[in-house]
Amino acid sequence: MDRKSSHGLQRPKVLITRPIQQSVIDLISQHCDVQVHLVDEPMPPELLASAMRDVDGVMPAGVRVSKEIIDTAPRLRVISNIAVGYDNIDLEACNRRHILVTNTAGVLTEATADLAFALILAAGRRVAEGDRYVRGGHWKQWQWNCLWGTEMHGKTLGLYGFGRIAQATARRGRGFSMRILYHARHRVAASIENEFAAELVDREILLRQSDFLSLHVPLTAETHHAIGAPEFALMKPSAFIINAARGPVIDEEALVQALQAGRLAGAGLDVFENEPQVHPELMAMDKVTLMPHVGSATAETRMRMALLASENLLAALRGERPPNLVNPEAILK
Ligand code: GLV
Repeated sequence: MDRKSSHGLQRPKVLITRPIQQSVIDLISQHCDVQVHLVDEPMPPELLASAMRDVDGVMPAGVRVSKEIIDTAPRLRVISNIAVGYDNIDLEACNRRHILVTNTAGVLTEATADLAFALILAAGRRVAEGDRYVRGGHWKQWQWNCLWGTEMHGKTLGLYGFGRIAQATARRGRGFSMRILYHARHRVAASIENEFAAELVDREILLRQSDFLSLHVPLTAETHHAIGAPEFALMKPSAFIINAARGPVIDEEALVQALQAGRLAGAGLDVFENEPQVHPELMAMDKVTLMPHVGSATAETRMRMALLASENLLAALRGERPPNLVNPEAILK
């Protein structure tokens, strides 16, 4: 940390782009001069660029940190993203400038798996639709034929990607007596497969056999629109798709068409291609459960995320390797 404090030592300057917990802001303020964007909305690019002009570190959440913005911040040494996904940050620009990028992997696994599983249950048992039905005054009497859904027991839960959150979702699926299939670039250790009775299958088998297909891949150039019309065509018409990863992994237009054509039973979505815009046709469909990108939104997890992001930030500013470094190439180069 190399800016001058009252003791003659220099204090780094830091920007936090969201009104995170005051206790964490206080903790960072012990070591740094902190500026907090107090509005809980993405900072407009021009404002972010001007606020970053003389900072040593930034803690962004839910905002794009583009090459153009990075270029306006000559002192920048660390971007401590308060999220597990870091597709909002131009990693190449950071690598070129030796700027360290960190995330909050590890502390939001269970909360996000809870949300993925909540969407599985909501989609299968029509929870949001039932809520609307009751509130809408449509429930006049008990009926044999009211809101039949799909049960989890004995069904196949397919996990596309098999990292931490997918494995935690698999654990929940096992608790509901589901069969677990996964497709990932790398096979996991046998001990992990055994723990979840999970079977690695190729992509086509995963798509063909899943009753609930839950997506758990990061958004990259390879995973953009990984699930589109050809994939929906392979899925069972009785299957549900669940996305608590990143919206653009699904081709949303193709999803709408598959749902409208009855080639898919329903969807549970926490993320969307153009957040916060949701495709109007998805809005209109009862068989789709919608959530506003809240996978990690529990009080406990949001506190752990803010704390871990502050640890990452302060470690990097001290010149140490932060615990959740995602671009080691920035220091090797
Ligand atoms: C949220 O979407 C995250 O990446 O943590």
